[in-house]
Amino acid sequence: MDKRPNILQTSQLSVSVPSRTLVRDVTVGITENQVFGLIGPSGAGKSTVLRALNRMTDLVPGLKVTGDVQLHGRSIFAPGTDANALRAKVGMLFQQPVVFPASIVDNVLFGARRLQSLSKSVQAELAESALQEAALWSEVKDRLKAPAAKLSVGQQQRLCLARALATKPEVILMDEPTSALDPRSTEAIEALIKRLKSRHTIVLVTHNLRQARNVGDQLAFIGVRDGVGQLLCEGTVESVLNRTDVAEVDEYVCCQ
Ligand SMILES: Nc1ncnc2c1ncn2[C@@H]1O[C@H](COP(=O)(O)OP(=O)(O)OP(=O)(O)O)[C@@H](O)[C@H]1O
Ligand SMILES: [Mg+2]
Repeated sequence: MDKRPNILQTSQLSVSVPSRTLVRDVTVGITENQVFGLIGPSGAGKSTVLRALNRMTDLVPGLKVTGDVQLHGRSIFAPGTDANALRAKVGMLFQQPVVFPASIVDNVLFGARRLQSLSKSVQAELAESALQEAALWSEVKDRLKAPAAKLSVGQQQRLCLARALATKPEVILMDEPTSALDPRSTEAIEALIKRLKSRHTIVLVTHNLRQARNVGDQLAFIGVRDGVGQLLCEGTVESVLNRTDVAEVDEYVCCQ
């Protein structure tokens, strides 16, 4: 048994819109310094659960979140919680890289500068260390002031990762981070994920079972029952993928 503490714990987490419940009663613990995969069919609620973990759900009008999410044992919904500070500690990487119409270096420092004022030398060090950690430094070090939009899509995704890393996150939420990438860029991101877990905890939504097997430590399956997304099983990657007794898992794994 893994005795490391849970960095994130959800308790009966449910998300609804006025007309229906999207996901219900998700209770799951995520151990630190591991890659926790979330799989399941399209529309089951994986992205919705992921977005609740750093209160990105606050930004969607009409979404109601009940239950709890604790980071280091403290509710992220506690009164007085600064949602921006939370999202710095629990960063996010999306399916499509979201780069701002600004230079490479300004993109990297975007979130970090909003959190606190930083001297020029600290900014330069932070940009370099974040780009190094995202394995992009050697490709961009001579053109930090060039527009970020000129980078390839694979480089843009690593730039977004560098931007998240520059706020020193403990957890990085990744929502299908390689689905827009070619095989080589996918390989680069997967190699990075494996390295990043020594210092961060990763929650990774993926439809790619090869990827879940390659980088995942634990896995949770979200499926739909009675029209509502639910956590149907969790455990080590292979133990979940072998749950042929759970019809939804069996069907999902067979169809991949
Ligand atoms: N803001 C919203 N308003 C209404 N319904 C929503 C909203 N956001 C998500 N949904 C619905 O909630 C369900 C879960 O969506 P979600 O995006 O979390 O699924 P997913 O498992 O990530 O799917 P995919 O694998 O296709 O990305 C879907 O039926 C979706 O249509
Ligand atoms: Mg999704």
